[in-house]
Amino acid sequence: MRLIFIGPPGAGKGTQATRLAQRFQIPHISTGDMFRAAVKAGTRLGQEADRFMKQGQLVPDEVTIGMLRERIAEPDAVRGFLLDGFPRTTPQAQALEQALNADGVRLDHVLLLEVPASLIEARIIGRRSDPVTGEIYHLEFNPPPAEIVERLLHRKDDTVEACRARQVAYQRDTTPIIPFYEGRGLIRRVDGVGASDAVTARISAALA
Ligand code: AP5
Ligand code: MG
Repeated sequence: MRLIFIGPPGAGKGTQATRLAQRFQIPHISTGDMFRAAVKAGTRLGQEADRFMKQGQLVPDEVTIGMLRERIAEPDAVRGFLLDGFPRTTPQAQALEQALNADGVRLDHVLLLEVPASLIEARIIGRRSDPVTGEIYHLEFNPPPAEIVERLLHRKDDTVEACRARQVAYQRDTTPIIPFYEGRGLIRRVDGVGASDAVTARISAALA
C-alpha cells in the first residue's frame, strides 16, 4: 500500500498517519519529522532546514526531494509507505511520480484531510509532543497524562506567526497538487473535523 496524506497544518495528518501505518504495517514517513530530527542532530541538512521551518516557510525542493528519494529507497519502504507532509509542491509531486515510475510501482490513494482555517490555530497552539514515545497530544483536545506533562515539547514553528505563514504556504504551494492527483483519480477527501476516532473511521471508509 502506497499512501499520501495531504492537508493544512494541524489537520491531524501526524495523528492519523501513525494509526494507519500501524494498521497496514508500512513505514510512516514524515518529512517534517525527518527535518526536526536533523535539526536536533545539528547536521548540515538540519541547519539549512531550520532557517525555513522556524519561519513557517517550505524547505527548498532540491533539499526535500533528495532526502525523500533516499528514504523511500530504503528496504522497509519497498513494500509500501505512508507519506505525511510530502509532496507539498508540484515539483515534489512530479519528482515522486518519476521515482515511482522508475521502480514500476504506483500510488494507491492520496488522502486529503480537510479542516477549515478557523480551527487550525487552536490545534497548533495547543499541540505538545512526547519526545520519548513520539505521541502527539493537545492540551485540550487530547490531554496528556499528568505524569508526562513536564517532558512534553512545543514545536518551534507552533507560534501564531509561523502558523499563519504555514497556512499561506499551504494555500499557495500545496493546494495546486490537489488537481494534479485528481487528474489521476487518486484523491480521497476526508472531513477532518470531529473526534480523532471519527476521523479514523472516515479514513477507513474512504480507503474501502
Ligand atoms: P510538518 O511537520 O509536515 O507540519 P504541517 O504540515 O504544518 O503539519 P503539522 O505537523 O503541524 O500538523 P498535522 O496535520 O500533522 O497535525 P497533528 O496530527 O500533529 O512540516 C513542518 C515544516 O517542515 C514545514 O513548515 C516546512 O518548513 C518543513 N517541511 C516538511 N515537509 C516539507 C516538504 N515536503 N517540503 C518543504 N518543506 C517541508 O495534529 C495537530 C494538533 O491537533 C495536535 O495537537 C493533535 O492532538 C490535535 N488533533 C489532531 N486531530 C484532532 C481532531 N480530530 N480534533 C481535535 N484535535 C485534533
Ligand atoms: Mg505533523
